[in-house]
Amino acid sequence: MACIPVITGKARNDCTVTPLHLPLSVAQSLLPIVTFIRTLTPNDPMTKIQLLGGISPDHFLRDHWQKKPLLIREALPDFRGLLDAAELIDLACQEDAQSRLVIRRNGRWEVRHGPFAPRAFARLPKKDWTLLVQDVNHFLPAARELLLKFNFIPHSRLDDLMVSYAPEEGGVGPHFDSYDVFLLQGTGRRRWRISGQKDRTLVAAAPLKILQDFRPEQEWVLEPGDMLYLPPHIAHDGVALGECMTCSIGFRSPSARELIGQFLYHLAERGSVAQQAREDDRYRDPRQDAVKHPARLPDGLIEQVGAILARIRWSERDIVSFLGSYLGEPKAHVVFEAPERPANEAAFVKKALRHGVRLDRKTTLLYGKDSYFLNGEEDRLPRSKKWLLELADARRLEGKRFVTLSADSSMTALLHEWYLAGWVRIGASA
Ligand code: SIN
Ligand code: CO
Repeated sequence: MACIPVITGKARNDCTVTPLHLPLSVAQSLLPIVTFIRTLTPNDPMTKIQLLGGISPDHFLRDHWQKKPLLIREALPDFRGLLDAAELIDLACQEDAQSRLVIRRNGRWEVRHGPFAPRAFARLPKKDWTLLVQDVNHFLPAARELLLKFNFIPHSRLDDLMVSYAPEEGGVGPHFDSYDVFLLQGTGRRRWRISGQKDRTLVAAAPLKILQDFRPEQEWVLEPGDMLYLPPHIAHDGVALGECMTCSIGFRSPSARELIGQFLYHLAERGSVAQQAREDDRYRDPRQDAVKHPARLPDGLIEQVGAILARIRWSERDIVSFLGSYLGEPKAHVVFEAPERPANEAAFVKKALRHGVRLDRKTTLLYGKDSYFLNGEEDRLPRSKKWLLELADARRLEGKRFVTLSADSSMTALLHEWYLAGWVRIGASA
């Protein structure tokens, strides 16, 4: 790609920006629009929003999503990060958080995996390292709230919100991701360089993905509140200019290879194939002749297995069931915590009527036409399903909304069950 088209939102004094091929005309033509940004109406895809540099989610999805990068100045003008470096270090020392330290010494990369002991941070060099913590949305209410701003993208695509801290010159090196990512600058400044290069050869001996020959085409310095959207496979390199923290909001795009493998596994375990195949339905060879070459795979075996595999059939139901289970399943390290002093159903309903309810920060709730998936577990949608769909989309039900919807006693019973398991919490705001 000779030049990746990038639109910038509200331009700041760009003296720190060194565009290599930046089409500024597009950026400038957007300025009047930004001035008239209407307030965000949740889930209105046509409303222009500052988060996207004054374009609507609809416009963003059409022109940029999975297609081309977007630099947004002052996406969240007052944003100064979600936590400070000491708090991020505390998280990195927690058993249930996934963290990494990337250090570069004399041009050589080193990666260490958490959980860390606090003393690990006392011995680090002054510069050129980065601490990365995944799934910060599982720990911080503010991180979960931030993700709600991206509610115009299907929840099934969301991976996590990662936060990085780096002193001067820290970064993870030039690389590409197979994710869509929004890189939102918290405190400090970071210089991003990007490239649409096709050469994705990696340094063979490095302990992390480093591009062997990174050829940047554009670069910008992001300041607090600025955001850069990158589709999968755009090469990028972010280097801290002084101490800085960056939030990466990542949306996974699973590979066909991953989907095929996981779908076949799902079919065999739970799909209609598993239901059709009887326990005694197995390979048989009553006509096998005595062999001279016992190590050779028999033709009959190959043929018969071919015939068994040719019987594999699946329906749209199997696909929905697979997607909801696979994409909604919590990562292996996720543990839900039941409330310490659980309220009985009557007390739960009383509190929910006043304060509303919300999904736990770690909960995923997806749905299809007939079924829903709570943390990957499938169940049929109840007859009066309105409340469930609303809870899944907004991840919360305000008290007032709960009053309207709670006339259905099966709803309150089910929600109480989820509350006892730690999947739902009392209180609409985190
Ligand atoms: C970082 O936050 O340092 C790295 C994020 C990325 O490049 O994907
Ligand atoms: Co990256």
